[in-house]
Amino acid sequence: MKNFLLLFIFLSFIPPRAFTQDAGKGAELFKQCMTCHGQKGEGIPAQKAPHIAGQYEWYIIKQLQDIKAGIIRKNPVMLPYLNKLNEQDMKDLAAYISKLQ
Ligand code: HEC
Repeated sequence: MKNFLLLFIFLSFIPPRAFTQDAGKGAELFKQCMTCHGQKGEGIPAQKAPHIAGQYEWYIIKQLQDIKAGIIRKNPVMLPYLNKLNEQDMKDLAAYISKLQ
């Protein structure tokens, strides 16, 4: 019983943001992606960086995770950027990119 109480107290201190995507934060993070993917995620052929604007959120998250893990998807040019991002950052980015047109 005491453990449940402690768990409840602990959970009530976690900010709601921990469970949601924040496209505003994603917009901020996306600035570092623009040099390759373009200001609106339209892609830049000269950089060989694909169009990613409006892509499904779940697909973007999956690609970022796969590229970061570097096993089934290797992308040495993007890796240094992803190494600085955590799971929440990648979700925030995906929320923002999926709404770009
Ligand atoms: C140095 C250039 C560069 C930067 C910076 C960069 N990318 Fe990329 N990105 C690429 C290239 C090149 C590819 C395609 C590589 C391949 O063939 O897998 C790619 C692929 C992707 C894909 C997969 C697209 C698909 O359709 O499968 C996503 C999503 C993506 N980038 C998101 C991002 C995000 C988000 C950032 C910023 C954190 C970022 N990229 C920063 C060059 C870059």
